[in-house]
Amino acid sequence: MNEKINDLLKRVEEFSPKAAADIEEFRIKVLGKKGELNALLEEFRNIAPEKKREFGQKINTLKSRALERINSLKEEYLNQCAPSESAGDMTRPASAEELGSRHPISLVKNQITDIFGRLGYTVAEGPEIEDDWHVFSALNFPPEHPARDMQDTFFIEKNPDILLRTHTSSIQVRTMERQKPPIRVICPGRVFRNEAISYRAHCIFHQVEGLYIDENVSFADMKQSILYFAKEMFGENATIRMRPSYFPFTEPSAEVDVSCNLCGGKGCNVCKGTGWLEIMGCGMVDPNVLEASGIDSKKYSGFAFGMGVERIAMLKYGVKDLRLYFENDIRFLHQFDSAL
Ligand code: PHE
Repeated sequence: MNEKINDLLKRVEEFSPKAAADIEEFRIKVLGKKGELNALLEEFRNIAPEKKREFGQKINTLKSRALERINSLKEEYLNQCAPSESAGDMTRPASAEELGSRHPISLVKNQITDIFGRLGYTVAEGPEIEDDWHVFSALNFPPEHPARDMQDTFFIEKNPDILLRTHTSSIQVRTMERQKPPIRVICPGRVFRNEAISYRAHCIFHQVEGLYIDENVSFADMKQSILYFAKEMFGENATIRMRPSYFPFTEPSAEVDVSCNLCGGKGCNVCKGTGWLEIMGCGMVDPNVLEASGIDSKKYSGFAFGMGVERIAMLKYGVKDLRLYFENDIRFLHQFDSAL
């Protein structure tokens, strides 16, 4: 009996658990109902009365030592595992969610629509998958006209009537079909052209186009509206110039340049020494386009303009590679939210 007690005491003292579960297992083995300690007490009943006192004390010591050791080991393990195994401090305030930032293309697009909103334009939207009529025919592109090659088009399946819109002018056609003048809409949206991807071109990009139709709308109205836009977007000192151009849907047509805001017009590598940056196309809506959408071209006239959002954002922020807008690198995207 003496030997058994000493042996168990020794094992209690030397017990070193490898995991929290080992402690509980050991406790059951030693102190449990069918454990070793109870087995000793069973034996204790049958020993000679004169030995009871001695062995009684020894067993008591063993029991309290075992309890002590097991409890202290449990506590040690609990402290060690506290952060992951316990719920922690339930009164602590939750850590704040990190907020994302708006994409620079959205920021610039919103800024453009805001500026024209102040001139009374409302936003109109339309489908990205379009038909030939709304992208080309209604806009005065004759069937075999080389002007269709100006915008390399993605056609859907083998049906040349269904295509991805190459410009948001299709929204302007849909608006004219739906609405009587006066019309003043701004048409933001994603457009698609079959172009090789490079630092200055992408097959997917964003446009904002505008349309203004009423009685007696003149070229001077258009010029002044675009000048207002340029000053709001690029600063009070911005000036514009117009160069003659060609679009099937406008006559006369022009290309608009804004004075380079980086060198103040003196000439730098961004404006390639010219002092000017091209920002949009514009023109007086061709009477054929008005008639195609059911608007009386004798009574009404109007102007339209269109610009690439990526291009405006590049000029505004000095971004040199268009592909950055599509890569979604957070280090790039985070720079813009506070810039506006
Ligand atoms: N739709 C033209 C383009 O995508 C832009 C434009 C719009 C030009 C309206 C003139 C008038 O290039």
